[in-house]
Amino acid sequence: MKALLTMTFGAAILVATTGQALADAAAGKAVFDAKGCADCHYTEGPAREKIIDDQLAKKGPELWYAGSKFQKDWLSGWLVDPKPIRPMKFNDLMVENPGDHPKLGGGDAGPVRDFLMSLTSKDVKAGKVKPKKNPKGRQIFAKKMPCSGCHEYVGRKKKIMGGRSGPSLVEAGIRLNPDWILAYLQKPKVFKPVKMMPVFVGLLSDKDMLNVSRYVANFKPKKKK
Ligand code: HEC
Ligand code: HEC
Repeated sequence: MKALLTMTFGAAILVATTGQALADAAAGKAVFDAKGCADCHYTEGPAREKIIDDQLAKKGPELWYAGSKFQKDWLSGWLVDPKPIRPMKFNDLMVENPGDHPKLGGGDAGPVRDFLMSLTSKDVKAGKVKPKKNPKGRQIFAKKMPCSGCHEYVGRKKKIMGGRSGPSLVEAGIRLNPDWILAYLQKPKVFKPVKMMPVFVGLLSDKDMLNVSRYVANFKPKKKK
């Protein structure tokens, strides 16, 4: 009897919570449209870019796989206080990122986050990449395939180093889903059919891609004492 009660009760809670999440995602979509976010971001996959002009015509990054790409807690914080991710302005290599991304109020950020987190890609397999400070990954990142030539990261003596043409990877370990990093390197056609970043398929083995993904996923802020 007790087991039965717990079961029915558990099921009721499950229904209540998933129902709530869906309601929030729908509310979030409404806010997303009302605030003009859709003017610069598309949220339905698959990727629409076919030629470089399609990429250059975009006013902001595609968000159709946002739920697979980002970490939920990071997204909550960024929507209310959006700090520049790309050192340079989107689709521009000469002008600095003006840091003028629209902000959401606290009440809107939750539902929009839930909407964005509901947008996932089946091409990201969960549980593949465990963040790790591995020397192999570091070698690939900083020497072999100089990812560091285009991406900022925290190097020796806690100094921010690296190139500025790609998105900053400083604290990528709290922003990006580790499994997405690997999927992104392995499946450029799915996530970025037209892109500025070189394709590493054929240059890096699957094992090396895993190593470098684990390394990047380990970029986290220093723990507060
Ligand atoms: C005028 C165009 C524009 C509008 C309007 C806009 N964005 Fe953006 N968005 C951008 C650009 C450009 C970036 C890249 C910012 C950066 O790298 O710092 C971005 C980045 C993002 C990101 C991170 C994506 C990534 O891949 O790095 C999210 C999430 C996001 N926007 C959500 C929103 C939401 C929610 C709204 C509505 C409140 C919104 N945006 C409105 C242009 C826009
Ligand atoms: C020639 C410059 C260049 C090199 C080299 C490069 N990248 Fe990139 N990377 C980019 C650009 C530009 C983007 C933005 C997406 C795009 O347009 O391709 C990007 C995007 C990314 C992203 C997604 C970041 C985000 O927030 O959207 C990750 C992760 C990444 N690169 C990792 C790597 C790794 C790992 C390597 C080395 C194996 C590497 N990159 C080498 C330029 C580069």
